[in-house]
Amino acid sequence: MKIYLATNNKHKYEEFVEILNHSSLLLPAQEGIAFNPEETGNTFFENAMIKARSLYELVKTPVLADDSGLCVKALGGAPGIFSARYSTPPNSTENRADYGINKLLKEMEEKTERSAYFACCIVLYISESRFFVFQETCKGEIAKEKSGNKGFGYDPIFFIKELGKTMAELTAEEKNQISHRGKALQKCSLILNNLANEL
Ligand code: IMP
Repeated sequence: MKIYLATNNKHKYEEFVEILNHSSLLLPAQEGIAFNPEETGNTFFENAMIKARSLYELVKTPVLADDSGLCVKALGGAPGIFSARYSTPPNSTENRADYGINKLLKEMEEKTERSAYFACCIVLYISESRFFVFQETCKGEIAKEKSGNKGFGYDPIFFIKELGKTMAELTAEEKNQISHRGKALQKCSLILNNLANEL
């Protein structure tokens, strides 16, 4: 069974493939489908539904969508649903990952309250009338400087106290065990297995 993943983010795709171990997970771009819906929702859930619905309208076959981001307590939950936009440099020649990280480190310079969490909402969209939602979080702190070169996005400054490492210092397997996306996908995988005979 083909399942489309409603994203253009190759890092997310890799994590989905590793965790779901699903052989027919497809990116729209791999099939020449242009996909770039406007994320007009106010929550991770609303944006995940927007992505899922708009890709489903194009492919009419089951779709998985992910909307995720980093919520920082000292910044009132920002960048939150704007995490991707927050890390988009005005000048396209700048490195996107570094831009968001440096901007956040600067905003956090004077802050002693450094707790944060990643959130990930995954929608498994079977049809207009049938879908499943999984939302999970991963708690951590905003480090004072970058460390590690694995993962993507804000991983180098997301410090996990219990492990004494940033997310970017974890192997893919370690990250997938504890991450927001890993935990949501572990639950999603149970439902997918349950639906295997009917999809
Ligand atoms: P989305 O594609 O609109 O869901 O944007 C999610 C953004 O949140 C990404 O571009 C990253 O900046 C950030 N993000 C989400 N998940 C992770 C993660 O696992 N590690 C680091 N950054 C993440």
